[in-house]
Amino acid sequence: MAPAIEVRDARPDDAEALVTLWREMAVGTGHQARLLAAPSVQSAEASVRKHALDPAGRLVVGEIDGVLGGMAYLRQTPISPLHDEVTVTVEYLHVSDHARRHGLGKALIAEAAAWAEHENCPHLAVVAPPVAREANRFLARLGLGQAGVLRFASTHTVRRRLAAEHAPNLLALLSSRRSVMARRAQLARSPMTGGHDDAEFGDVDREQVTLPAAPESAGK
Ligand SMILES: CC(C)(COP(=O)(O)OP(=O)(O)OC[C@H]1O[C@@H](n2cnc3c(N)ncnc32)[C@H](O)[C@@H]1OP(=O)(O)O)[C@@H](O)C(=O)NCCC(=O)NCCS
Repeated sequence: MAPAIEVRDARPDDAEALVTLWREMAVGTGHQARLLAAPSVQSAEASVRKHALDPAGRLVVGEIDGVLGGMAYLRQTPISPLHDEVTVTVEYLHVSDHARRHGLGKALIAEAAAWAEHENCPHLAVVAPPVAREANRFLARLGLGQAGVLRFASTHTVRRRLAAEHAPNLLALLSSRRSVMARRAQLARSPMTGGHDDAEFGDVDREQVTLPAAPESAGK
């Protein structure tokens, strides 16, 4: 007999099973695992309560014969900053190894599609890590084409990289200061300037010595 499949909204008492699913997902796909540690059962429970109050988000779970075997996080977001339409995005879609190939994955996507239709959302998006080949094939067969690459890092990492990229190149700065000084010395010796020393330069001569532009981050 075919197993009974049910998709429903997560309940606080699913927290432990959800953390197990999360751990499996992180091991199997490396899905943001480098950055997000597995949640505690308490934190998962609190989050499930929060989702229940959010009209724009749903955490749904799939059961096979009464045993929780899959999850998906559905969110309504504007399709672009310039359009009125809202899209339903499916994130953290995961079906446990033991529960696969029984239709649970399709049932979770079907729930997302039904919710999108109910909420008049004309589009559906699913976030999948590029390394998850099986999941990407599964999604492609359901008509979902690749639309972009989502990159992820901690804010601290990005800030640090930005700071490193915009730091003044001290060697280049020192070398251009040296050439300015050499040019000044040359001008001071030149018969055209009458061999004046630096202190005797008129304003015009000074203006001819162009200093290198300060780096963007200088003085910050
Ligand atoms: C991708 C994933 C969600 C699919 O879940 P699933 O429960 O196995 O999905 P389904 O059972 O609905 O469908 C899987 C395949 O099994 C087939 N299938 C469904 N019921 C079946 C049955 N009773 N007997 C044999 N095959 C069956 C489906 O037709 C489908 O085939 P297709 O891929 O050729 O279309 C699951 O494999 C998964 O979680 N993968 C890893 C996690 C992952 O990468 N997550 C990243 C986010 S997408």
